[in-house]
Amino acid sequence: MTTGPTPEQPQHFPQCVPVLQGDGVRLRAHDYDDIDRIVEQSQDEVSQRFIPLPNPYTVENARGFLAEFVEKSWNERKRFEFAIDDLSAQESLFCGNVGVWPHGDGRYEVGWILHPDARGRGIMTRAVELVLAWAFESLDARVVKWCADADNDASWAVARRVGFREPVVLPNWMPLGGELRHCAQATLTREQFENGTLA
Ligand SMILES: CC(C)(COP(=O)(O)OP(=O)(O)OC[C@H]1O[C@@H](n2cnc3c(N)ncnc32)[C@H](O)[C@@H]1OP(=O)(O)O)[C@@H](O)C(=O)NCCC(=O)NCCS
Repeated sequence: MTTGPTPEQPQHFPQCVPVLQGDGVRLRAHDYDDIDRIVEQSQDEVSQRFIPLPNPYTVENARGFLAEFVEKSWNERKRFEFAIDDLSAQESLFCGNVGVWPHGDGRYEVGWILHPDARGRGIMTRAVELVLAWAFESLDARVVKWCADADNDASWAVARRVGFREPVVLPNWMPLGGELRHCAQATLTREQFENGTLA
């Protein structure tokens, strides 16, 4: 098991970000060229409903996201956020984000968002499988948590497809749109993922 970067591995963004590829999907380091599509996916009504995003979401918000949540977080190893490319198009196209971040003791959390024009084709399911395989192989991840608004059926469907089971609901816990929403959570251990609980 790899527990962290070896001295010869690059430490700084974007060189420290691995490229993970499989089945028509590529995960890579974000680029400032992704900004317009980040703005579009963040303005989307479903994204606005289920993720605490600024509204309206501007180019400046996207720049801040790239600087803080992506570049700085990779450099400090506080969060590992990937850009997703759909390779099935003629030209590869940015179509979302998927990331994991540590909670200590080998516990990580995973999160995701897809551009609306990329939904309904299994892109996120494949992207999450790639990031989980990397987290279990190359980070010290022992277990990963999924957490979402309990009404976010599309997010749960992705989580279920990659192996999460038995979600529990924490009532009145997730601040979204000025409300405290019910929060669904589930975990997936390295063993469960590697033993292929996929269905
Ligand atoms: C959550 C979200 C990423 C799910 O997107 P999605 O397109 O449904 O997920 P996938 O890319 O895995 O695609 C699954 C769909 O493709 C279909 N599909 C086609 N080929 C597939 C394949 N090879 N593998 C899996 N699914 C496939 C599935 O049947 C499913 O379609 P359905 O919704 O009609 O049942 C998206 O709704 C989103 O970005 N929402 C806003 C942000 C958000 O809520 N983030 C999560 C916060 S916790």
